[in-house]
Parts: sequence; structure tokens; C-alpha cells
Amino acid sequence: MGITIDQKRNLFALQMDKTTYAFAIDENGLVRHLYWGKKMSNINDLDVPVLSEISSNDPILDIVQEEYPVFGGMRYKEQCLKVNFADGTRDIVYRYESYEQNENTLKINLKDIHYDLTIQLNYQLYEDRDLIERSVTIINTGTEKIEIEAIYSGQMHLPHQALTLTGTKGYWLAELQEFKQSLGGSKMIMESRRGISTHHHSPFFILDHHATETSGDVYFGALKWSGNFKTVIEPRPYGTTLVQMGLNPHDCQIVLEGGTSFTTPEMIIGYSADGFGKMSHQMHAYARTYILKGGDRPVLYNSWEAMVFDVTCEAQIELSKKAAAMGCELFVVDDGWFGNRNSDADGLGDWYINREKFPDGLNPLIKAVKDSGMMFGIWIEPEMVNPPTQLLKDHPDWIYHFKNRVNDTSRNQLVLNVTKPEVQAFIYQMIDDLLANHDIDYLKWDANRPISQTGISRDMWVKHTQAVYEIVAKIKEKYPTVLIEACASGGGRVDYGALSYFDDVWTSDNTDPFDRLTIQKTYSYLYPIKAMRAWVTDHPYRNVPLPFKFHSAMMGSLGMGCNILNFTEAQMEESKGFIAAYKEIRQTVQNGNFYRLEHQSTNHYHLFEYVYQAEVLLFIFLPQANIDRGNVRVKLQGLDTEATYVFEIPKKMTTRYGDYLFANSNEEVFETRNKSGAFLMYHGIDLQLNGDYASAIIKFKKQ
Ligand code: GLA
Repeated sequence: MGITIDQKRNLFALQMDKTTYAFAIDENGLVRHLYWGKKMSNINDLDVPVLSEISSNDPILDIVQEEYPVFGGMRYKEQCLKVNFADGTRDIVYRYESYEQNENTLKINLKDIHYDLTIQLNYQLYEDRDLIERSVTIINTGTEKIEIEAIYSGQMHLPHQALTLTGTKGYWLAELQEFKQSLGGSKMIMESRRGISTHHHSPFFILDHHATETSGDVYFGALKWSGNFKTVIEPRPYGTTLVQMGLNPHDCQIVLEGGTSFTTPEMIIGYSADGFGKMSHQMHAYARTYILKGGDRPVLYNSWEAMVFDVTCEAQIELSKKAAAMGCELFVVDDGWFGNRNSDADGLGDWYINREKFPDGLNPLIKAVKDSGMMFGIWIEPEMVNPPTQLLKDHPDWIYHFKNRVNDTSRNQLVLNVTKPEVQAFIYQMIDDLLANHDIDYLKWDANRPISQTGISRDMWVKHTQAVYEIVAKIKEKYPTVLIEACASGGGRVDYGALSYFDDVWTSDNTDPFDRLTIQKTYSYLYPIKAMRAWVTDHPYRNVPLPFKFHSAMMGSLGMGCNILNFTEAQMEESKGFIAAYKEIRQTVQNGNFYRLEHQSTNHYHLFEYVYQAEVLLFIFLPQANIDRGNVRVKLQGLDTEATYVFEIPKKMTTRYGDYLFANSNEEVFETRNKSGAFLMYHGIDLQLNGDYASAIIKFKKQ
């Protein structure tokens, strides 16, 4: 287990629970990728293939599978690193130099044969999760500067050509829309050029070979980065597929002065021989164990959809009282509490408390919130400024802009040049003051537009995101218990970079409980459920019953965003019941293994399951019943075949056709049933929901 090194053959095998990843140094000093797939305990059988040119047009450097191909020589495939040396030379010729191993970390040092350039390939193994974290460090060991034109976190070689890509596309309010695409003869690119990881593509790849949720080969990876990224998938003419992922070279250049170094963002890669379900379990468990901090996430109330910019101390106190009565644990004041912020046209940057709305500051509200037993949270958008603000008057040079161009505003705002130390100091100070002077438990950090007119420095695409991470890390260091949510107009910063620094992500501004089912499903492929914020809102576009809204939002970290001042007693009671029910199952939702269940009904059921210790939850949604009034056979997963599970179904439906469940049938007399894990997984239970927007959660307890 762990990192096995065959010193004689310079062969490195990263041995995990069920996976082997291997590479070796060949006689020319190239780092040759050998294998990634099901575990092979005996690595003696792995040889470094002897390559010969297929033709003068298929040179060896193009055919060879390298761990980190560079621009140089006769390589025409996608490369990971391209630099300009001071004398104008633009290609790299590297040779293996040495390795360093420390338990589950491995560094492979490569050196250019002429120039003072060291390339360090970094590997960190997560044996129990069958995952590898990879990054690269470039060190300028000389005195002359080296310009980096492109630098990826790594390249992977997949031993198939017939692969299907599961990707995400979308836009604001429609993030994380899944698409499937078979690879053909051309490259696929997914990227961001906006300075955030975006609503459009997610920085991850999932490639499968005839996989389902429970079977088949799946190769996957995610980048820990919230800025510009690029993923390139290149089917090779020689029978394999290569994938590379990392910082987007678009408009970017990083200058390495003598004696300095640069490390790429890490990417986390994995292989599952058991389909997409196992992939999700690997990544979720990794995120829960190694990435996310803090315990179970509180049920929050957020004022945005109820009040928009119209926040006042009295109304917020009123809201907070009702939120507390309902069972919410955290009250978040969203936009509108500061500066001259009555619309999105003003205020950003003037982070003083608006005294018209809060005559005695925020503390009376905070006191009321705390007195009612809740935590208090607040919204900020620190990277931005509105043109009319004092901040911009005082510091017109603090924004990204080009001297002779008109600044382009979006949502009436400009982006602060966060790469400037004085801007970083301003943002840190603003947050520090807010936290030092108020009893705040939660920050929602928003960023509502992409970056443009970036100024002369082409490394800002990297430095901006790094600066955001550094400020968040510094705040966390001083205020370790404060939870911070990453939001960028909804799901513009849903990625493993954000998850590494923030605690939660705002999945989407789209809170429609039906649309959320698809967004949340795609989110669940690689991202952890615990960090997925989901709210129940009034949502004007569709008339959806409250239970469906709650069930949809209960799939993640539950929040409430309705204008509860308008709630009837009955709605209050109903909501109270759901929030109490969520608290009972929250441990399982946030920490359990998550399953997307497949089924054969012609009706469009959405079935999700969570398993945590002895508890199993089945979420069933039927947004619209079609002509097929038949049942759906639900086969659970991840159970103990020998154990007995107890669950409740409505009694009167059990007689004629089997075990039917009708949604929202609160008056049903429930009957307790016992079935073995084997029955529930292999035979399955028959369930039926009726009507539109029907939903239910069934709880199973292992005996
Ligand atoms: C963004 C966020 C919303 C809300 C508004 C406030 O759109 O995604 O949740 O905070 O900004 O302006």
C-alpha cells in the first residue's frame, strides 16, 4: 500500500485501496505514464514500452505518454508547460533528476538540460479514497527571468478511446446542467475566462467507459481553483485519451524572477471501477474528511428573496422572530444593510452601516437574533465597487481598467483590483472591523460579475483568486468559528478551490424546487452535499406545494428564504414540522453516502438515497405524473444484505398491488414494515406517487 518505488527500474506505483497509478523514468529521463486503473499489487509486470516512430509524422515525443509533457521538441499534442527563457528560447528539454518521498507524498524533480528551470511534479495519495492530489511547482533556480505562458496542474492518460464525457453547461439561474457527449475524433474544451469558475462550466471532468451508477469504469478529476481554468480532453489517434486540467493560459502570463517559484492549483483525480455512484462516494468522503471543516451545517434563514434591498432593522427583527419560531438556527441579513444601498446601483465599497435602515447599528438586530437562540450572519461583496461610492472617489485607481477605455460596468458595478496590497488590506480591514465589532457567526461572500479590463498585468487572473483565498484564510485564522459561504451570483464559484477555503457554496440563485433537482443532482457527482446550500422560497414562477419545496431543499443544507411575515399560521406550523424533521435527518443528509437511484418507470421519478450508519433515507420526487399510473420499483443501494431494516409506509395502500405510497398523505395510518437489506436492494419496493409535484421521504432504520 502507499507509494511503492522500484529503485532499479525507477518505477513509481501509487497503490491505493482499489486503484494503482504508475509511472516510470525511461532511459532518456522522460517521466512515462504506465497505468491507471484497477489495483495491481504486483508491479513487476509493468514495463516501460519501447517506442518507435510510426512515421516521420508521428514522432516519439508525440506518441509517448508522459506525466507532464512540455512544449518542446516534436510534441504536437496538448502540453502542460510552455515558457519563454530570457534569450528567446521557447522550448523545454527536461530530464529526470531525483525524487523525494514522505509517507504518502511524492515529488519528482525534473531539470531542463540547459536552463535554470526545475519542474517538480507533486503527488499526494489518499489511499482510502482511491484519490490522488496532483500539482506542479516550477522553480527558477537562476538569475534571469522566465515567463510562463501556460502551466497546467497535470495530464492524465485514459486507456480508452470510446469514452463518454459527463460535463456541465449552463448560465446564471441554470447552473450545473448535465450533458453527456461521446468522444469522437476531436478535442473537447471546457473553460472559464471570467475570473470566477463560472455558471457555465465546472472545473471538473468525468469520463466513463460504458458506466452506470453502479458499474463500469469512470475516470474523474476536479480542480481546486475558483478562477480561470481549462480542461482539455484529447482523443489520441494511437488508442488512448488524454486529459489535462489547470489554469487557463488565456490572456495569462506568469513571470518567474530568478530564485522564485510558482505552484499550480491542485487537482484531485480518481478512478472508479464501479460506476458514478462509487465516484461520488470517493469524492464526498474526501471532501468531508480532508476539505470541509466544522460540524453539521445550521438551518438558515436568509432575507434576500423576502426583502431584496429593502432591509430595515424592525422588519429584520420581525423576520428573525418568525424564523426562530420556525426552528431556523442562523439568521442571515443579505444585501442592502450598508452604504447607500437601495438598489444594485450604489453602495458596494462603502461598508458603513446604513443608519436610515439601522439607526442604532446592527447590534439591536444581532441581539434580537441571539436572544431568540439563533446565530447571526451577514452578506458582503468585498471584491466590488459601485461607481457613485466614496470608495471609488477616494481610490479611482483601485479598479481593474485600461487607461484610455471606458470602464464597463455590469450589475452597475466594477471589480476592485484585488491584486493590489492596499486593496487586500482594505478588504481584510473591512471584514475584520465587521467581525470585531459584531457578534457575527456567518458571512456570505458574494461576487456578482465577471472580471474585465484587467489592466496591464497578465498574471492578475491568478493573483486575484489567490488574494481572495488569502483574505478568507486570514479571516478564518482570526475567527475560526465563523462560517463563510462562497457565492458568485448563485453558483459562479462552486468548485473545490472555494470548498477548500469557504465552508458552503450557494448552489444557484435559481431556487425553483423542481429546477433544483437537476442542479443538485449534477452538483452531487463530485461536490459534497454538506456544503450545498438549498433554500425554500416563495418562488413566483411555479405553483409548487410546500412539501415538495422542503423535500427538494432538504437534499442539502436546508435554508429558508420565504417572506415568512406573510405566512399563515398553517404555513408556519407546516414549515416548523419540516425543519424539525430535517434536524432529525440532517446528520445522514450531510454526512451520508449519497446515491442517485436508477429506475425503470416511464414516469419521471427522481430518486435519491442517503446512507449513514443505521439510517437510510429515500427521497422520492414526481414533478408531474404522466399517463402511466403504475408504480416505481425502487431498489435501494449500500445496505447490509443480512440486516433487517424497519420503515413506515401508509397502511391502507399495502393490500392490493403491493407497497404503495401516496405523497403528502398526511392522514394515512402508517404501518411499520421489516425487510432485509437483500430484499430492499435486489427485489426492491414498489412505490407510487400521484399528481404533480408529489414528493416524500421514507426513513429506514437498520436493526
Ligand atoms: C447575488 C446572490 C443572491 C443575493 C444577491 C444580493 O445574486 O446570489 O443570493 O445575495 O446577490 O444582491
